[in-house]
Amino acid sequence: PPPFLLRLPLLSALCAPTCALVDRHEWKKLILVQHWPETVCEEVQKDCRDPPNYWTIHGLWPDSSENCNGSWKFNLKEIQDLLPEMKEYWPDLIHLFPNRSSFWNHEWRKHGTCAAQVDALNSQRKYFGRTLELYRELDLNRWVRPSFPWLHFPVADFKDALARVYRVIPKIHCLPPSQDEEVQTIGQIELCLTKQDQKLRNCTEPGQEPPHKKEVWLAGGGTESRGLRVCEDGPVFYPPPKKAKH
Ligand SMILES: *[C@@H]1O[C@H](CO)[C@@H](O)[C@H](O)[C@H]1NC(C)=O
Ligand SMILES: *[C@@H]1O[C@H](CO)[C@@H](O)[C@H](O)[C@H]1NC(C)=O
Ligand SMILES: *[C@@H]1O[C@H](CO)[C@@H](O)[C@H](O)[C@H]1NC(C)=O
Repeated sequence: PPPFLLRLPLLSALCAPTCALVDRHEWKKLILVQHWPETVCEEVQKDCRDPPNYWTIHGLWPDSSENCNGSWKFNLKEIQDLLPEMKEYWPDLIHLFPNRSSFWNHEWRKHGTCAAQVDALNSQRKYFGRTLELYRELDLNRWVRPSFPWLHFPVADFKDALARVYRVIPKIHCLPPSQDEEVQTIGQIELCLTKQDQKLRNCTEPGQEPPHKKEVWLAGGGTESRGLRVCEDGPVFYPPPKKAKH
């Protein structure tokens, strides 16, 4: 058989999931990942102080590449002017990282260095700045708010509502039910964007079924985490913020 057929699966078996060697650093869409702080805090149950009562940024991820350039270090100075917005809209909810900028450092190294293939994202200033811009433009918080917290609704309704607003198919991640809750909890929304000009597009490929149920990376990935994953069909719980106002 052609060597490449053999090589990839073998390498993946030997490497950790994030193994940079396996990664061919090719990707075709971007994913703006936003998470619901209340759920993230529920998931980690650890040191989650004052979660904001609005959707915040998790990251801007190329769909199929990670850790593309280990020598391109994160430098906080390059995004100095963005810090007020970064702190508000891209906070480290989990505080597993020693400080706030370590979360940004992580996102830059794992995802930003791959996104940087595109001119519009080829510096740290551009990567973080463009992500904030997309967050503002797409304005998820305008459309999704927990309104009837006692009501569990089908996740399909939520997805359809988002699809109507954005006119593309999003992907929704949930925290699976724990023993004391009956339903999954909504945790994360992915909106997909075209590679070159960051315009909304379907998260699915034409004619493709919704993507596989892959466990989603969560900061730290600690054993205490139940793990966000693509929601199962069926009812979902959208937890209201415990805090009244940010
Ligand atoms: C990796 O990043 C460094 C620092 O920005 C840069 O000089 C180098 O060209 C990059 N390598 C690749 C393969 O893009
Ligand atoms: C915070 O993290 C950044 C990047 O990881 C590091 O350069 C900086 O020294 C850290 N600051 C503190 C106070 O730990
Ligand atoms: C997005 O998905 C919808 C529903 O499957 C489909 O009708 C539409 O053509 C897709 N858009 C593109 C650009 O593929």
